[in-house]
Amino acid sequence: MSPDDLQPALDTARRAVAAAGRIQLAGLESERRVMHKSRFDLLTEVDQRCEEAVLGILREAYPQAVFLAEESSPGTDRDQGEVWLVDPLDGTTNYARGYPAWCTTVALRRDGETLLGVVYDALRDERFEAVRGRGASLNGKPIRVSRTAELGRSLLATGFPYDRCEQPETNLERFSALTMRTQGVRRGGSASLDLCYTACGRLDGYWELRIFPWDVVAGALLVEEAGGKVSDLAGGPFDGSGAQTLATNGLIHTALVDALAGSA
Ligand code: IPD
Ligand code: CA
Ligand code: CA
Repeated sequence: MSPDDLQPALDTARRAVAAAGRIQLAGLESERRVMHKSRFDLLTEVDQRCEEAVLGILREAYPQAVFLAEESSPGTDRDQGEVWLVDPLDGTTNYARGYPAWCTTVALRRDGETLLGVVYDALRDERFEAVRGRGASLNGKPIRVSRTAELGRSLLATGFPYDRCEQPETNLERFSALTMRTQGVRRGGSASLDLCYTACGRLDGYWELRIFPWDVVAGALLVEEAGGKVSDLAGGPFDGSGAQTLATNGLIHTALVDALAGSA
């Protein structure tokens, strides 16, 4: 499928994330009812309503669409055929508390390759998008990764897995070590926004463990199309699973791989 053939899909994804954004903004005006999927993994009715809205718009345009969507179809194979990946509200904990860092993320993959990604931050009215081979943009303007070449001068972001109290691998040692070796490590609470900010140069790099495909595949394409590099934590191939994600401006990638390896 050529990039031009993807235009209808991109237009549909834009409509879908905009619809979710309207629901999210309206939801800020009322009490958010919070449920726990696990100790740290929250769910609100806004998550559910946003997913219904996004899938409804995608399904209306593509009745045969297959979804890998966080709240309704989390087990779909992301690598077989054409799959729409949807996180209707990335940053639920932030949203539930009124902390301003959340978004909607939609991606389209075909046979394991991400073709397009759209991430919408309704609070700031910022829409990040990328089509493979056609670059990345923020509200229609091209974006590029930063030019920071030294790890010691870099600003990074990461997150901590929901099962951090049940698993020995918490990411805390890496967070601590990189905090001492860089300008800082932010924990924003939305993996998709962390990747978007890496793509547009607000961050120089991001890494995270044990999240999910819907958290990372759109943002990873944005970083790649903005001139950055995405891999696993050892610098190997990025598989889109969310198990290990390392995204940088490319210039600090090797230094960050080495620093992460040395601080695990
Ligand atoms: C979460 C956010 C957070 C990350 C979590 C994700 P959710 O997504 O992206 O930054 O650290 O692991 O699950 O649950 O708010 O959609
Ligand atoms: Ca998420
Ligand atoms: Ca979510």
